[in-house]
Amino acid sequence: MLNTTNDKTDIPGPVVIPGPAELETLVPDAATLEANHIVGFDGNDIRSRPFNLLRSQVIKALDANGWKLFGTTSATPAAGKSFLSMNLAAALSRLSDKTIYLFDLDLRRGSLADALGIEGKVGLGEYLAGKTDDLRSVGRRIGDNNLVLFPCYRVKSNSAELIAGKRFANLMEAVKNLPDDVIVICDLPPAFANDDTIMISEYLDAYMLIIEQGITTKKQMNNTVDLLKPTQCLGTVLNRYVGGLIDPYGYGYGGSEYSKYYSD
Ligand SMILES: Nc1ncnc2c1ncn2[C@@H]1O[C@H](COP(=O)(O)OP(=O)(O)OP(=O)(O)O)[C@@H](O)[C@H]1O
Ligand SMILES: [Mg+2]
Repeated sequence: MLNTTNDKTDIPGPVVIPGPAELETLVPDAATLEANHIVGFDGNDIRSRPFNLLRSQVIKALDANGWKLFGTTSATPAAGKSFLSMNLAAALSRLSDKTIYLFDLDLRRGSLADALGIEGKVGLGEYLAGKTDDLRSVGRRIGDNNLVLFPCYRVKSNSAELIAGKRFANLMEAVKNLPDDVIVICDLPPAFANDDTIMISEYLDAYMLIIEQGITTKKQMNNTVDLLKPTQCLGTVLNRYVGGLIDPYGYGYGGSEYSKYYSD
């Protein structure tokens, strides 16, 4: 039987998603960013360039379809979903005309707070379980850009029940009603880990499929696309591809000559 504690509808009035200016600001230190391979905040770092390319492609695809809310998922675990979500959000947040929201919806294994060095206790899991009604106590503005992170501190209860609850539906409804200059990225669990991703995908405009070079098979990729239908795939990213734009990170684009293109 479902645990219905998350079905509490005791939020006074409609769900309000706070903007960056309403939130506590966290400025991640350089060592934490480096240790967690977060390079997207620094436009001068050559390793951020693939995320600039990806950011432009994402904006184009979102604009073409009138979308703003998408998730990142994969068939296999540890494909680089969180790495990609974080770096893409960081690269997008350097564009002054956009507000970027990043939701850690891997409720059981959330990792984005750790990656930025946030030591909190009240995350999306607590919000969905009804322990707080105020999303201002959950969200953090990251740096001085318009980037908002809603972290998750790993719930112990069944995450699928939280996602099936009314609170999650109300939250996603409010997200959908955010203004048009907003982009929302949801970092998701692998599609086959449990039913969380399938349930969340029903609320999304689209999802991005992260494929791990040499690990994810074509069959797994096709099965994931089938599993998440009718939600559409925004695009695929081949991660850990060696031989692309920048070999050490190898996100894959063009040849090695590109790595010197902008150097002095
Ligand atoms: N292209 C890459 N270059 C360098 N490090 C990477 C790359 N892709 C992922 N990583 C690192 O590999 C580790 C696993 O990646 P990440 O946590 O993003 O995977 P995930 O798909 O979110 O995993 P999970 O399925 O557990 O949620 C992290 O330490 C991440 O920083
Ligand atoms: Mg992850």
